[in-house]
Amino acid sequence: MKIGLLGMGTVGGGVRELAERLPDVKIARILERVHTRPEMTNHIEDILRDDSISLIVETMGGLHPAYEFAVQSLESGRHFVTANKLLVSAYGRELQALARRRGVGFLFGAACGGGIPYLSNLAAAREGDHILRVGGILNGTTNYMLDAMQTRGLDYAAALREAQALGYAEQDPTSDVEGLDTLRKLILAVAVGMRRWLREGDIPVHGISGVLPQDIAWAQEHGFALRLCAFGAEQGEQISACVEPAMCPLASSEASVTGNLNQAWYEGAGCGTLRFGGQGAGRYPTAANVLRDVLALREGARYMLPDDCPDAGVRLMDAQRYYLRLPIGMPLPEWAGAGCDAGEYRVAATGPVPPQAVYALASENKNVFFARLQKE
Ligand code: HSE
Repeated sequence: MKIGLLGMGTVGGGVRELAERLPDVKIARILERVHTRPEMTNHIEDILRDDSISLIVETMGGLHPAYEFAVQSLESGRHFVTANKLLVSAYGRELQALARRRGVGFLFGAACGGGIPYLSNLAAAREGDHILRVGGILNGTTNYMLDAMQTRGLDYAAALREAQALGYAEQDPTSDVEGLDTLRKLILAVAVGMRRWLREGDIPVHGISGVLPQDIAWAQEHGFALRLCAFGAEQGEQISACVEPAMCPLASSEASVTGNLNQAWYEGAGCGTLRFGGQGAGRYPTAANVLRDVLALREGARYMLPDDCPDAGVRLMDAQRYYLRLPIGMPLPEWAGAGCDAGEYRVAATGPVPPQAVYALASENKNVFFARLQKE
């Protein structure tokens, strides 16, 4: 099977290396700006003109020109495999419809969970079961950072630098730390598992860029690990969904997710809750998952999205308990309880409150930080 590889960054380089060990898979051409190998080119046309290439693997990231290249590849009758969550969460349905029209495959298993074969499993589970809920820790960069801050006492900037140096973060890590990368993965999990398409702008998303040592200290003192969690649950025609930091009890499975690991789970009416753990980011784990798709295609796998995947509205979650940290001058709302002083801040653990009350408070002042207090 001859492959055209688009992009030779962290993941693309890993795909090329791992593919060399597979006897009947050959990376025939590579699209890359800087040429270090004879098979490299700057022009996608050079790849699409090569009739021996039957599959395009995209690991360049970003929306454009990845989208245009995906369309050209599928139009030309090539299978298309990608790890690009931004691309698939924006154009997944359109690209799959195009792939179907052209009679070729479109797989994106590495776009959620890095090295974890989560989406492929979820797609199979959906066919025989009714998936009720999906979620988990879906970003390796932020998990690495939060774990490093809590267990090694690193500050935020040092933790981010390490995650970048290890090849976990996006080129612009804003999408990692602000929760957007997690959000896009949640959109894919909901679509693949629950046959509904969510719009990015409808889902409440709160990341970890505001986290301070005080929050980590509170977690430590009260027996929690701070994690960035995604959640989606069927609620009639709608989906209740969010991405937000959570204080996870040390005995919970989330607290055991350390370093760049992820934990993606789904709950089916029949199978109950299944949890999938592994490296959620990084060169070789993600490349290995890309190659799983390549080999699955060779064995006849074609699509991950259901053909019928209509838009769905988003509901907020029911009332939850929250950890809140506010600047000392900012009045603590009555619903937040008494709270106590922590240097320049006041912290509180609330009773069950509607998430919108907490979101509104956080939108008033960028020095407010919150995290859902997760039950066991
Ligand atoms: N930046 C992403 C993460 C890469 O940290 O999870 C894998 O999708």
